Amino acid sequence: MKSSLLLIGVICSLLALSASAEECPFSGRRNLLQAGAPGAAPPAQQGGAPAPAAVGPRPVGKDVYGEPALDYDFYTTKCPTFLQIVKTEVAKAIAADSLTPAQLLRLFFHDCFVMGCDASLLLKSTKVNLAERDHPNNFTVDKFTVIDAIKAELEKACPGIVSCADILGAAAAEAVEQAGGPHIDLAFGRRDGLDSFALAAKTNLPGSTLKVVGLVENFANVGLNKTDMVVLSGGHTIGQARCSTFADRFAPGVKNPFPDTKFGEALQTYCTDGNTAGLDRRMTLDANSTTVFDNGYFRSIVAGRGILTSDHVLFTDPSTKPLVTLFAANQDAFFAAFKESMAKMGRIGVLTGTQGQIRKQCWVRNPVDITTTPDANMDFAPVSSEFCKPASCDATCASPTS
Ligand SMILES: *[C@@H]1O[C@H](CO)[C@@H](O)[C@H](O)[C@H]1NC(C)=O
Ligand SMILES: *[C@@H]1O[C@H](CO)[C@@H](O)[C@H](O)[C@H]1NC(C)=O
Ligand SMILES: *[C@@H]1O[C@H](CO)[C@@H](O)[C@H](O)[C@H]1NC(C)=O
Repeated sequence: MKSSLLLIGVICSLLALSASAEECPFSGRRNLLQAGAPGAAPPAQQGGAPAPAAVGPRPVGKDVYGEPALDYDFYTTKCPTFLQIVKTEVAKAIAADSLTPAQLLRLFFHDCFVMGCDASLLLKSTKVNLAERDHPNNFTVDKFTVIDAIKAELEKACPGIVSCADILGAAAAEAVEQAGGPHIDLAFGRRDGLDSFALAAKTNLPGSTLKVVGLVENFANVGLNKTDMVVLSGGHTIGQARCSTFADRFAPGVKNPFPDTKFGEALQTYCTDGNTAGLDRRMTLDANSTTVFDNGYFRSIVAGRGILTSDHVLFTDPSTKPLVTLFAANQDAFFAAFKESMAKMGRIGVLTGTQGQIRKQCWVRNPVDITTTPDANMDFAPVSSEFCKPASCDATCASPTS
């Protein structure tokens, strides 16, 4: 709870200066998990614990904030072809580029971790605001075109119905499944946010050099626990990283930190190669099966081949080692946990009901009625920029050059 409050505190730290706190679209709730968060109201069913997503009665009703909860049948009648369209477009994208699943999973992760699953990641920078996706630490996020293609098809089939935030979730789930991973049953009904701040990307995404304590803290900021952290790290089974993201492991004076020392030496040669140009090279995080969603990532770590510091430490830290060992030995256990943790991640800070909007195009928010919502249309400047600045925002933070 402490860390959630901390984050709420920084995001709306200037709230106190404003007389109209209600207008702040980030007022607290966005950094908590919808239903299922510690202290959240139980779902509207008997028996306490939330039902596993794929079976049994599904939670419906209101979330802890009195807003409609995400709903497994949200599009069943409103847009029955939703999931089929996502499936078709994702398959096309994978046929063109086998690394697509990793990128789609990453888009959803980056969106959810930075101010909630509200498609803020997709908004482009404007004249007066640098958006999340353009922060220099945007980690080479890619495949926005796949999301745009899905959106274009959906606008033909069911105009104005499906949010970009839900498309991100559905595309990520579909990508995991088409790469050989589990079927992930997501609930829908997310709406699209109005804002996107580059600085929020900087402060909210976990860094690749973090150790377990830092990783746990980062995940706790968005309501995810240590188990979720280990489980979701397993998404690296289809991931790649640039050498620059693990250069810390080759820093001058650092003894080869790879338990598989031959592997470490080969990697260092690959990445440095006598000069620094190699730092832009990419390395697969699960070298054995890069494009297959399996438990190979955990087997690599156990074998002493964890690439990033944040991978390696999951096996060396006694508090996470048992889970890594389990997943390395038992793919079914990993898949079952991944379904649960990804669904949980998909509830971070969601907007539902009448909050936000359903964007017509995912990269730009719909024009807002400037007479009824005067704060909202300053050439796509941040909504209510006076009091809803992101963490450590100063006077220059709305500038595209900040
Ligand atoms: C990432 O940010 C850089 C600016 O720092 C920008 O040039 C690049 O286009 C961004 N990447 C994407 C995919 O938007
Ligand atoms: C990678 O594949 C090889 C050959 O199939 C196998 O011997 C090795 O154990 C695998 N490594 C890991 C970490 O799974
Ligand atoms: C962490 O979250 C998972 C669900 O993602 C849950 O199964 C587990 O009980 C939680 N662990 C703790 C210690 O709360």
